[in-house]
Amino acid sequence: MSGIDEVRAAWASLVPGLDAADENHLAELRSRFLGKKGEIPGLMRLLGSVPPAEKPAFGAAVQALRLEVESALDAFLESIRSRALLDRLESETLDLSLSGENSEPGTLHPLLALRDEILDLFVGMGFEIADAPEVDDEWFNFSALNVPDDHPARDMQDTFFLEREPGRPAVVLRTHTSNYQIHAMRDRKPPFRLLHCGEVYRCDADATHAPMFCQVEGLVLDKGIAFSHLKATLFTMVRALYGPQAILRFRPSFFPFTEPSAEMDVDCRSVGLDRDGWMEIGGCGMVNPKVLANVGVDSEEFQGFAFGFGLDRMVMLRHGIKDIGLLTAGDMRFLRQFRGLA
Ligand code: FA5
Repeated sequence: MSGIDEVRAAWASLVPGLDAADENHLAELRSRFLGKKGEIPGLMRLLGSVPPAEKPAFGAAVQALRLEVESALDAFLESIRSRALLDRLESETLDLSLSGENSEPGTLHPLLALRDEILDLFVGMGFEIADAPEVDDEWFNFSALNVPDDHPARDMQDTFFLEREPGRPAVVLRTHTSNYQIHAMRDRKPPFRLLHCGEVYRCDADATHAPMFCQVEGLVLDKGIAFSHLKATLFTMVRALYGPQAILRFRPSFFPFTEPSAEMDVDCRSVGLDRDGWMEIGGCGMVNPKVLANVGVDSEEFQGFAFGFGLDRMVMLRHGIKDIGLLTAGDMRFLRQFRGLA
């Protein structure tokens, strides 16, 4: 049929070489045979000169040739691409079977080592270890702890608020482990001695402040609890961790959830650091009766103390670390210094 046989023959003569063709060559052939000005659309333009009786057969033959060329080019392209993928997978194979001969043994991070020591110490003093959420309703983190709505700690500067769902209470990344006090007092009846340790988050960063850090929270609720119990507990902890020569001081302070409140500082030189001055390691106080009322505990019957200490600061004090960021930087030169803490 006029022209069709020539085009089919031209195509057929090229097919045997297509196994070795690359993508560019296939693209050239696609344009030569199927492109707008290509040979097969060119055949359709001859349709006007074909006698009317032969038109249907002519059109069908051109269409069949177009489909044949198109599907062959698609199949060759597909096979080139899967061959290239196989070649790449073979050349990029990883040998995961490390011999282990030169690998370094792992060791405990100094934060984990100190945390374990503190947990052991408090278990020895009759405390129970418990858990609390890091993502919490604002009520647990602030309101139930007697932190007023307009307290600066709620400000976006300090607190990471999560996106609020319509009709639901505001949710925060907890700013302190004291949210644990509320969960604990709602979940169980006094008397109890509880300890919780975990991550907290604040929009804060310099050499002694990190945006994510770890706190240790203690809560004791019983009959006849006094500030002297709190003082004895904290002195026992700090002297067990830093030695009996450690010089400590309580500074009067303010927390809405304790009354009276104090902050505890350690004298840097007394624990072997080569610098003058005090480092604040935590806050504490007697549980505010307003907080007890918020969780339905009768403050006439039960009193308590609570404390919240910064574990990162305590590690800095112990090892003479000057920048808190080193604890989370993942720098092996820094971490290798703590081999053997396990
Ligand atoms: C509190 O977080 C109170 N919840 C502590 C508390 C608990 C008081 C129970 C009374 C009763 P404060 O914001 O001062 O308090 O933090 C406590 C300790 O966490 C600080 O003394 C410090 O050691 C540590 N700390 C605070 N902010 C940072 C920070 N950005 N980076 C590292 N450590 C921090």
